[in-house]
Amino acid sequence: MFEELEKIQTAALAALESVQSEALLEQWRIAHLGRSAPLMQVFEKFNSLPKEERPVVGKRANEVKRLLESHLAERSEALHQNALAQALETERLDVTLPGRPIQQGRLHPSTQILRRIYDIFAEMGFQVYRTREVESDEYNFELLNIPAHHPARDMWDTFHTITPGVLLRTHTSPGQIHAMRENAPNPVRVILPGMCYRYEQTSARKEIQFNQVEGLAVGHHITFGDLKGTLIDFARRMFGAAVRTRFRASHFPFTEPSAEMDIECFICGGKGCNVCSSTGWLEILGCGMVHPVVLRNGGYDPKEFSGFAFGMGPERIAMLRYKIEDIRYFWGNDLRFLEQF
Ligand code: PHE
Repeated sequence: MFEELEKIQTAALAALESVQSEALLEQWRIAHLGRSAPLMQVFEKFNSLPKEERPVVGKRANEVKRLLESHLAERSEALHQNALAQALETERLDVTLPGRPIQQGRLHPSTQILRRIYDIFAEMGFQVYRTREVESDEYNFELLNIPAHHPARDMWDTFHTITPGVLLRTHTSPGQIHAMRENAPNPVRVILPGMCYRYEQTSARKEIQFNQVEGLAVGHHITFGDLKGTLIDFARRMFGAAVRTRFRASHFPFTEPSAEMDIECFICGGKGCNVCSSTGWLEILGCGMVHPVVLRNGGYDPKEFSGFAFGMGPERIAMLRYKIEDIRYFWGNDLRFLEQF
């Protein structure tokens, strides 16, 4: 029995030498410590031994078993460490490799300027009022005091639809009539932003589509002073507290008196440069007191009510602000342009 135990131990340890993987180790365990392993057979034959041999053989057999078990544990740990080291080596990440750049979305420059304009006027109590882009001749012209053969129609080259009397709005001013008719005889204070269309030869300064932001305030005792105060305050918030402004007399059929507002050129500080055509000033909007005829068309009695209106081009403001030299970039969908904002 002793000899047999000795053989079992030597054979098992020798076999263990060549075990190189965790799977093979499991096979080894089954072969040498499993139910039908030779060592276990020794325990089975135990009862057939003479009584006095049993304790010694038993002791030895248990020693062999513990020895094999401890070798198994040792080997298992070593193989496990090995496998781990190998995995770390082959699955290694090079964290110093530069990452793939994440494409970042951004707001269109017109949207950015529009939102800034909304914020400024919201602080002054103006609500955003949206009106249609497809308009009638009546709203785009007639009700704004521009009858069919009025020479001022030349200022708004028009895209007409195939339906007579229906057109793409050439400015946001027809929204004034909608806003007034919806609110009269209550006071209104709104801005009307949106896309406008003109039948034009495109150039660096002219596009067939562009945004406008119209402003309209109608109420009791509204004066030209209110108009100037509102627009000067707007210019300061938009272009900085130090910006200088000036009003020049102008003409629009739907306002009387009418004016255009210039801001001092922020490129050259008023000295004169190619952006301001050496004048030192940049025109940014048209404005005036709502014409009595237009007030009446909107449902207000001009003896009782007065109001002011203005219209500005956000693309033009964006061009000045970011020194964009061609308006056609705005709707060209060129990422090289858009990604700069
Ligand atoms: N609608 C005018 C334009 O398109 C601008 C304007 C609006 C002028 C309101 C006066 C009052 O040029």
